[in-house]
Amino acid sequence: MSIRSLVIGCGSYLPERVVTNAELAERLDTSDQWIVQRTGIRQRHVAADGEVCSDLARNAAERALAAAGVKASEIELVVLATATPDNTFPATATRVQAKLGMTGGAAFDVQAVCSGFIYALAVADNFIKAGQAKTALVIGAETFSRILDWEDRSTCVLFGDGAGAVVLRAEKGSARGVLSTHIHSDGRDYDLLYVDGGPSTTRTTGYLRMEGREIFKLAVQRLAAAVDEALDANKLTARDIDWLVPHQANRRIIDAMGRKLELPAEKVVVTIDRHANTSAASIPLALAEAAGDGRIKPGQLVLMEAMGGGLTWGASLVRW
Ligand code: ACO
Repeated sequence: MSIRSLVIGCGSYLPERVVTNAELAERLDTSDQWIVQRTGIRQRHVAADGEVCSDLARNAAERALAAAGVKASEIELVVLATATPDNTFPATATRVQAKLGMTGGAAFDVQAVCSGFIYALAVADNFIKAGQAKTALVIGAETFSRILDWEDRSTCVLFGDGAGAVVLRAEKGSARGVLSTHIHSDGRDYDLLYVDGGPSTTRTTGYLRMEGREIFKLAVQRLAAAVDEALDANKLTARDIDWLVPHQANRRIIDAMGRKLELPAEKVVVTIDRHANTSAASIPLALAEAAGDGRIKPGQLVLMEAMGGGLTWGASLVRW
């Protein structure tokens, strides 16, 4: 009998400080109207001084563990998706492991920027399906505020900090759980979205740089292809989808995907207005919100999709 990874709990965490568009407009040549019209973003959360990626991740993980009714000591695998680790090394996942009081299992980071959660889910799901872990924690956590050039209005208005986590448990012969994951990359587009620093180049952290318009065009094509691939692999159609939980990069990209799938707006989980783009954290933040308030119910079909730097992109279907 084949093994499936069941999502048994979700949790999320947002830093306390909220920065509105109006606050940004006080010190940048921008406006609430421009930001809302082009992106759908109204505000973002920003980590406090001294609050680092592993703090956000730990808080989200603790909430996911509580929701699942699982003790940290039962976790055999921690996969943390982040592009903003505490340090260049070791993996931030190991710090989260220690902060959770875990002394066993394996913990490592996955770096696929905004596609990070789909990548991390794919990794953990494959460990579970291979019988190498029974209970896993998959986390997306980011502190993009630390890699933004706050003088650059074309990028700094777009991103926010946050974390989300899910607990996966192996279940034999279940109709529920992760149905499939589909991940892709194309390094020819490396320069469309990158941070101009790093240990092997400048030895500084650097700032996020982005060709926004080009990314926008590619996002719609690539996401559509990944979604078709996921539906085809499971012999499902867009009509079977109960919830679209997309990466939250831009409201216009989210709406374009909803239209392509002919989904009514009520079936699309949107958090970008309040969270902005939290990179690898955006999907688990949205999942935690929609599962937490009872919108996503057991047995329903959830489609997730994301694209990020690399470029990387992917999709996953989960029978909740
Ligand atoms: N406020 C006011 N004006 C601005 C701002 C701002 N914050 N930012 C840029 N502008 C100006 C530009 O300078 C430009 O002015 P100009 O015409 O005088 O030169 C004008 O607005 C238009 O700029 P564009 O970049 O062409 O605007 P566009 O309509 O493409 O919107 C945006 C920009 C919102 C970045 C859009 O391209 C986008 O969302 N792209 C996708 C980005 C994305 O999703 N990135 C993340 C994906 S991967 C990941 O999540 C890490």
